[in-house]
Amino acid sequence: PGRRLTGFQTTGDLHLGNLLGAIRPILADQHRAETRVFLADLHALTVEHDPARLRARTVQQATILLAAGLDPVRTALFVQSQVPEHTELHYLLECATGYGEAHRMIQFKEKSAAQQQVRLSLLTYPVLMTADILLHDTDEVPVGEDQSQHLELTRAVATRFNAHYGPTFVVPRAVHPTVATRVMSLADPTAKMSKSGPTPAGTIFLLDPPDVVRRKISRAVTDSGSDVVYDPQHRPGVANLLEILAACTGGQPTALAGDFPSYGRLKAAVADAVVETLHPIQLRYAELTADPDGVRQVLADGAARVRPPAAATVHRARTAIGLLT
Ligand code: TYM
Repeated sequence: PGRRLTGFQTTGDLHLGNLLGAIRPILADQHRAETRVFLADLHALTVEHDPARLRARTVQQATILLAAGLDPVRTALFVQSQVPEHTELHYLLECATGYGEAHRMIQFKEKSAAQQQVRLSLLTYPVLMTADILLHDTDEVPVGEDQSQHLELTRAVATRFNAHYGPTFVVPRAVHPTVATRVMSLADPTAKMSKSGPTPAGTIFLLDPPDVVRRKISRAVTDSGSDVVYDPQHRPGVANLLEILAACTGGQPTALAGDFPSYGRLKAAVADAVVETLHPIQLRYAELTADPDGVRQVLADGAARVRPPAAATVHRARTAIGLLT
């Protein structure tokens, strides 16, 4: 199946959208496909941040990924900033990307509109993401639907670079899960569930204890009406709950809808399914936090493993673009 890679920005705590949209999909295939997973700490610098919290969160997210089943023997787990080839390739790709192309990205428009002081790196964010992907000769990028525009940019830049300077990069493709590719906020089912949304009540964090999970789900905004049907357009709140249930239990949203006589029964089933999904991750997380040095060692090993092939990609790109090598 080729090489698969995905990344997680260390701007906030990992949540159910991250788990269902990306973590589970990439880990499900880690024993069949060569897999790389990284923490995008450089991306976290594109918005206001607290240095000490960022450092702690990077280790915490790595720990959660291991707790969720990432097998560090099979899968290289590393921190973006500890593989400086990411930054080096980023610059070369900035020279192959248009200002207009970066400026058109929906995420840039949304995030920059919400801030007073916009960091320049927020504009070039998708170019760094392009570097992340192309650096590792990636074939497939399992991500949630919100990243599709960035993946299209990645493909455009790779194709253009190859056409201008000769075959240099593998042109990757995005792969999205069939259900829960866009988990919505429980507080506002028209907005995606996110790390830093306006309402923490809308987001189920992976380390939320069972009572918090149950409370958030029981208070989830549903729609007018009372019968349970899967209709994302007209009943986004109920559709979101059905998608979460389907993703956690391996069912199909439309078929599951028929099982529930009321919103209340649906919510109870969703709460059970989410608590059951998170339980083993939380248990394992508690074990792993007893050994933070072990997690740091996994990250150091991961970086050491991927750096030589990454350096080879950068060398190829430097040569192609005309630098003295
Ligand atoms: P990030 O950190 O926002 O999200 C990490 C992954 O989780 C997915 N995701 C969701 N999936 C379904 N429903 C949701 N509500 C939801 N919210 C997030 C995202 O689609 C993503 O797969 N720019 C990226 C990080 C990144 C990256 C990369 C990813 C940097 N470089 C290279 C892939 C390859 C981001 O901010 O994701």
